[in-house]
Amino acid sequence: MPDLKKSIAYLYLQQTALERETLYNRPHPDIAPAEPFKRYPSSPKLLLPRRWDGEETNFWKLLQRRRSHRNFSTESMELTELSLLLWAAQGITGQAGSYYFRTAPSAGALYPVETYVVAVDVEGAEPGLYHFDIRGFQLEQLRSGRLEGELVAASLGQGMIRNSAAVFVWTAVLRRTMSKYGHRGLRYIFLDAGHICQNLLLAAEALGLGACPVAAFFDRELNSLLGVDGEEETAIYMAVVGRKN
Ligand SMILES: Cc1cc2nc3c(=O)[nH]c(=O)nc-3n(C[C@H](O)[C@H](O)[C@H](O)COP(=O)(O)O)c2cc1C
Repeated sequence: MPDLKKSIAYLYLQQTALERETLYNRPHPDIAPAEPFKRYPSSPKLLLPRRWDGEETNFWKLLQRRRSHRNFSTESMELTELSLLLWAAQGITGQAGSYYFRTAPSAGALYPVETYVVAVDVEGAEPGLYHFDIRGFQLEQLRSGRLEGELVAASLGQGMIRNSAAVFVWTAVLRRTMSKYGHRGLRYIFLDAGHICQNLLLAAEALGLGACPVAAFFDRELNSLLGVDGEEETAIYMAVVGRKN
């Protein structure tokens, strides 16, 4: 397929393939690292509940049952549920020196992915945009008010968002991973995001909620909704969560 071979995607894969002969002397771009955690110090904080008294669920049944749900009832989500979803996606589960290990694996333990939540209908969280402060296990409120309209428009008109309870938006701070792995690091960033999203999807299923991954969005519009520049940090993935209808 000559057309495939001319594509930017194919060239990227070719040029970022590891080769035995050049493993230690391949050209490596000089990319400065970035802070491992993002914080919004002046934003209002919403502490997330850490307790969970719900029932245990069978992991194998969860795998069998998980399906993408796009049809939600208008019932709200509890803050405890949102808290569990965030913990499943990116919660800290261990520490070694300056490394904070998470529920989802990350290439080089560099954790390039940041989580933002648009609260549509969450009891105990005003509608608006929040950033997940992973170490503080709290939400940092960045915008208040209804953002569903903007989000639907930014995601190519995906109307399921209107009846959802919360929308997760994941960004990548590219330098965190690319400073170590160069151009190949971009592959790892997307793999990291996949792990995080799958954790969220399974956690949603465990809570009896419905969820759908979303990658169809207008990148610039979504970045502007989040207030990120699209260069140092850029939106890469989303998931819509709500009560199944
Ligand atoms: C990377 C990725 C991007 C996706 N983007 C969208 C999307 O933008 N909108 C949507 O409705 N579903 C999206 N999906 C969901 C797929 O359509 C769904 O996973 C697929 O049809 C298989 O169905 P299942 O998830 O129920 O097993 C996406 C899934 C993945 C993995």
